[in-house]
Amino acid sequence: MPLVHMGDMLRHAYEHRYAVGAFDVVSLDFITGVLAAAEEKQAPVIISLAESHFGYFDFELLMSAVERAAQRTSVPVAIHLDHGESLESAVHAINLGCTGVMVDASSLPLEDNIAHTRAVVEMARACGIPVEGELGYVPGVEGEDAERHPGEVVYTAVAEARRYLDATGIDFLAVSIGTVHGRMKGEPRLDFAGLAEINQALGIPLVIHGGTGLSDDQFKKLIENGVTKINYYTALADAAGRCIHHNGQDAGAAGYTTLVRGVAEAIKQEAARCIDTWGSAGKAEELLAHCRPSAPVEHVILYNTEGLDESGVNDMMAEGRRVLSAIPGVREVFTGHAVQDDAGYRYCWVVRFADRSVIESYRDHPDHRKFADTRFRPYAGGRISIDFEDSTPGS
Ligand code: 13P
Repeated sequence: MPLVHMGDMLRHAYEHRYAVGAFDVVSLDFITGVLAAAEEKQAPVIISLAESHFGYFDFELLMSAVERAAQRTSVPVAIHLDHGESLESAVHAINLGCTGVMVDASSLPLEDNIAHTRAVVEMARACGIPVEGELGYVPGVEGEDAERHPGEVVYTAVAEARRYLDATGIDFLAVSIGTVHGRMKGEPRLDFAGLAEINQALGIPLVIHGGTGLSDDQFKKLIENGVTKINYYTALADAAGRCIHHNGQDAGAAGYTTLVRGVAEAIKQEAARCIDTWGSAGKAEELLAHCRPSAPVEHVILYNTEGLDESGVNDMMAEGRRVLSAIPGVREVFTGHAVQDDAGYRYCWVVRFADRSVIESYRDHPDHRKFADTRFRPYAGGRISIDFEDSTPGS
């Protein structure tokens, strides 16, 4: 099953009034548990990786696992960078396979938040990737230390939200209406009237951060007022923690595999409960029919060279791998020599783009132009260049 376009996914949720769970994952047990819940409930799902968690895992390695696991499910999946801290983080996430990115510049003054967000939107749009922005302040950070809740809630103001949307062109907006990240201190009081105004004024999918600890009734009202993506982490981490604690008590001094036994199942149970509450259960098939796949394109060039010896060609290829792989939307750069001596073309590039949109933005990117004009084209003689899409049925 393909990864799907996250914009299409959340538009469908917005129009049909349900919310997709965006579950932050920090290990294979989280990936397995969340996807098993989505599969059992036949629900679309977003796997999120929060930049504030990158100290707990290797982002690149976990991304490979998320992508592979998503391809094996039968339900639509999107992969999201949660709370991206910079333009560079967003580029890195897209190049590793995220199909949506969040830019969190909400701690900056409005005009700076706008400038920062706009730069991310311009880059991501050229890669065909939607962007979530945030306005207002949801206290706390994701993670086990979230209970510290630094600062107070800053509510999202409707006029600022309208200006932010117009000035940046974001696809989804994370609003601050009284939730906090991590465990709640007492009963959260949410500003539903404010949320309804924002929804009316913006008409785009809204996002709630700090999903842990809200009641079923609060979730229902959030969804009635335009919330289509609910970020959720602490309750999954607590379910995992309880399971490990229980295993430790039962088994005394136990080894790793004994301690983590059942963790994925505990995460699955909690994610499945959320999926039922948020109305996304049973929506997978209908949604798939409405979503564009998020599919890479292989940009293939077969070529011969003139005026460069073998070591010159190798240097040129090494430089190309370094320069081109940093361009937004480039997933991978493969350079190769023909195995057969009598092949019609001796060398190749296979550049994997995150999406069709990258064909154009890559061609026009200054780093690509400079490399192509000074290092490649002057020496590349006869060549052919073609962009290929995956032709696997259902992709
Ligand atoms: P909780 O940890 O409160 O569920 O919030 C998660 C979140 O908002 C991630 O961005």
